[in-house]
Amino acid sequence: MIALLPGRLQLAYDEAGSGTPLLLVHGWPLDRTMWAGQLGGLARHARVIAPDLRGAGGSTVSGPYTIDQYADDLVAFLDSLGIASAVVCGLSMGGYIAFSMLRRHHDRIRALILADTRATADTDEVRANRARLIALIEQEGTSALAARQIEPMLGRSTRERQPLLAESVRSMMASIPPEGAIGALRAMAERPDSTPLLGAIEVPTLVVGGAEDGITPPDVLRSMAAAIPKSRVEILEQGGHLCPLERPAAFNHVVSEFLGTLLYD
Ligand code: MLT
Repeated sequence: MIALLPGRLQLAYDEAGSGTPLLLVHGWPLDRTMWAGQLGGLARHARVIAPDLRGAGGSTVSGPYTIDQYADDLVAFLDSLGIASAVVCGLSMGGYIAFSMLRRHHDRIRALILADTRATADTDEVRANRARLIALIEQEGTSALAARQIEPMLGRSTRERQPLLAESVRSMMASIPPEGAIGALRAMAERPDSTPLLGAIEVPTLVVGGAEDGITPPDVLRSMAAAIPKSRVEILEQGGHLCPLERPAAFNHVVSEFLGTLLYD
């Protein structure tokens, strides 16, 4: 489906189920198809909605690309669906966008799921690596980007035991529009530190990630959760940076349990 938003922005999205809206925000360099296992597995528990961010999948490829702009796009998207507030689940870059939604539109967030993400801003080293990735995309395209990124994105168990999944993630990453991939890299490099926000988060929060995630390792998730008042943390064995894809049943289980707790909140 396509949502037509102000500023001639079009966001492609998938939707399944009914009840509490659950907005799934994908990471980089990915698209909404990363949530296929959640659209199937969580539709009994929520109205599951997975959009492509601008510059990814079937959505409009044009800037401005900033984390705040992605957040504003998602709020316009919720408006177009008539949704006042949603449980917002952001994976990695999706989590950075969820923090921006908290800063700019906190009344639109019913509860928060922070998956394989971090509150801190980029270090100089990470920024320098993003500059190298931009040069790689400009010179060799997104196939080279996908070949470079596939190893850190997946856990060791997935790489060893799920070659077909690894191939489908590689192909998803290779198909991101170059302009969108570069725009997102610049947006992430410029994002602010969200650590000061953590203690002020008032909504119930689930922090979840993979035990084999080398990009946002369990220690990062645990310390982030420790700073959020109404939070719980779940580390999924044999999951990497993309634990919703790598361990869909386990991910859906912890998310459905969390959604259940919201009935009493
Ligand atoms: C992602 O999965 O969204 C990226 O790894 C985030 C990042 O590069 O900081």
